[in-house]
Amino acid sequence: MENSQIERRLLVCQNRTCRKQGSAKVLATFHKFDMPNITVEKSGCLGKCGNGPMILVLPEELWYGHVEPQNIAVIMEKYLLG
Ligand code: FES
Repeated sequence: MENSQIERRLLVCQNRTCRKQGSAKVLATFHKFDMPNITVEKSGCLGKCGNGPMILVLPEELWYGHVEPQNIAVIMEKYLLG
């Protein structure tokens, strides 16, 4: 199966520590893109608070820390859209 055909969930932590580190902007930026087969969701604490904003991609369990809005296009191109 091609990378882009897998149904994925992309969780963006919106708990307190990640919010202080800018996770609301990260979530808003992901929502701007039309990503087939990827559902973007806000999540509670992902347990890696020192590295926020944190995102987690399921089902592969890919973790990304210190995600900035300007990095999102690269993450999508390299890892999510195949
Ligand atoms: S607050 Fe985001 S991982 Fe804990």
